Amino acid sequence: MIGADEVSRVLVAKESIDSRVTELADQISRDYQEVERVLVVSILRGAFIFTADLTRRLAIPHIVDFMAVTSYGKSTSSGEVRIVSDLRESIEDEHVLIIEDIVDSGNTIGYLRRIFDGRNPASVKTCVMVVKQRPGMDMSVDYVGFEIPDVWVVGYGLDYEDRLRTLPYIGELRQDIYK
Ligand code: IMP
Ligand code: MG
Repeated sequence: MIGADEVSRVLVAKESIDSRVTELADQISRDYQEVERVLVVSILRGAFIFTADLTRRLAIPHIVDFMAVTSYGKSTSSGEVRIVSDLRESIEDEHVLIIEDIVDSGNTIGYLRRIFDGRNPASVKTCVMVVKQRPGMDMSVDYVGFEIPDVWVVGYGLDYEDRLRTLPYIGELRQDIYK
């Protein structure tokens, strides 16, 4: 498989991702049963694969919009976030579900929450595929796919310098590549 020699180990296998995405979609569908519709906001680029899989399993009315953000600094998290491409529609009075690929420092998801809370939505929740376990971090994410160790991961949308996003599993990048 392309790029697989750059992965030192598989952290979450394809089958585990698949069943967890189904569980998340079921839970989200139950939690939003009473609302008219959900506005799913997919954060590009990392969340595109997760979004495609998750939304196709939702059993509730929903629409999907996209926002592209970038953090300053290439592959590591540097703290500052910038909107590269904003949503097409207003989120006013919508029930917003933000879909993100990963929480590392928590800066990006924290920034997004502040931005969205300021646009008068009916509600905002967050759904993240993987959250890194970092000491002392208390990040409130509503739906979490997996907790993983604090290593650089690729695959299932996650990249290293824009590569390896389309690996079907979540794998740890070889440490000699990123350290
Ligand atoms: P934050 O530190 O939580 O703000 O994460 C910022 C962004 O860094 C995430 O949205 C990802 O795009 C990227 N990122 C952080 N850790 C990883 C990783 O292990 N693999 C791939 N991308 C990552
Ligand atoms: Mg990202």
